[in-house]
Amino acid sequence: MSDNTAKLTMGDKSWDLKVRPGSIGPDVVDIASLYAQTGCFTYDPGFTSTASCESAITYIDGDEGTLLYRGYPIEQLAEHGDFLESCYLLLYGELPTKAQKDDFVHRVTYHTMIHEQMSRFFTGFRRDAHPMAIMVGTVGALSAFYHDSTDISDPHQRMVASLRMIAKMPTIAAMAYKYHVGQPFVYPRNDLDYASNFLHMCFAVPCEEYKVNPVLARAMDRIFILHADHEQNASTSTVRLAGSSGANPFACIAAGIACLWGPAHGGANEAALNMLSEIGSVDRIPEYIARAKDKNDPFRLMGFGHRVYKNYDPRARIMQKTTHEVLAELGIRDDPLLDVAMELEKIALNDEYFIEKKLYPNIDFYSGITLRALGFPTTMFTVLFALARTVGWIAQWKEMVEDPSQKIGRPRQLYTGAAQRDYLPVSQRR
Ligand code: SDX
Repeated sequence: MSDNTAKLTMGDKSWDLKVRPGSIGPDVVDIASLYAQTGCFTYDPGFTSTASCESAITYIDGDEGTLLYRGYPIEQLAEHGDFLESCYLLLYGELPTKAQKDDFVHRVTYHTMIHEQMSRFFTGFRRDAHPMAIMVGTVGALSAFYHDSTDISDPHQRMVASLRMIAKMPTIAAMAYKYHVGQPFVYPRNDLDYASNFLHMCFAVPCEEYKVNPVLARAMDRIFILHADHEQNASTSTVRLAGSSGANPFACIAAGIACLWGPAHGGANEAALNMLSEIGSVDRIPEYIARAKDKNDPFRLMGFGHRVYKNYDPRARIMQKTTHEVLAELGIRDDPLLDVAMELEKIALNDEYFIEKKLYPNIDFYSGITLRALGFPTTMFTVLFALARTVGWIAQWKEMVEDPSQKIGRPRQLYTGAAQRDYLPVSQRR
């Protein structure tokens, strides 16, 4: 490949395609004019080799196990920063000054309440509805309550909608949990930080004062940082595609939540904990490793493998450390599921099947143990993922809407169906 072109040859014809370098990471071959030039499409159904957009927000090096938010390593942000600071960074591209951060925190804090009439929206669900079903419906309904921030052509309305989403997701998530467990809703409090406020809305009850444990709040905040953004994953791509038609941001985020729910994606944290519970004890691990390797068995090790990471997911390492901190703070000396998880990881990482396929634990492998220890039911795990990922979805949506070259996403296909044929009256059909 020459420095900025790639030659495509088909039969006796050839074409030069532009090659564009990234600031870091792989170059791209620009195929936007390929169909016009060659009459052919490219074919890449899982987008394993296809860049859907240009972005400056998050970068992953799957071989190195690197994750950067606007160039800052996730390890440093998780260690030294907090979630709202990472939100500002993802949205605006730079770490905030103290004044910028104070202003951002103030604006988010004063958008945490939802329209009082929305609380009646929840009562339409069955109490045993999965909280993710409630999230998809309720977040989509936000566009029915906040008409004054749905005009995406207005930068001010885009900013207000972005802040509203980030601010209201914890309130909605906590309400979904409270509705699920049959307890009264708890209003947000402006004197608590983002993570403490969320824990308070989830676990406070009217009968007594609820004191947030600062160690657990710090762990919750760090878990939000780890889940905030992750390049063009399935749910982010869903948000971008929905947004490319001009749909309002609340509807786009609801589409992202729906996609995240799948067990191959954000639903893996719930599935991983259920898997660890099903395995139950260390002596049953070999049976499940064998099943994961058996081509005829659909079983997969949930929380293992990743489309991009072919090395250890850096978030999983931080997650594992957080798990130990939370269990220690809660005085949980030996969690049998943690024992199973640690032994399963050790066995899998030394098994040639997993080594050859470069399968490592991902963020979902340890998160479930931590969230369960914090007091959340497994059905809430993906809700917490959606809460944290909202800033990533919004930042990516904002970048797309503000991109002057943006156009509606409309993939083509390899058609392998019937060629044109004439209608047959039913009397002549065999
Ligand atoms: C998230 O994209 C993101 O960034 C997502 C995410 C984010 O922050 O947004 O990181 C969050 O979704 C993490 C992933 C959570 N999902 C799981 O933990 C579910 C279990 N993992 C797998 O379903 C799978 O690893 C995927 C979906 C994560 C990745 O699938 P790919 O990239 O399509 O890879 P593949 O299915 O083609 O697998 C490659 C090979 C296959 O074997 P062969 O057909 O080549 O023989 O590896 C095998 C797979 O069978 N394999 C597994 C496995 N994952 C892949 N075998 C056993 N157990 C597994 N978990």
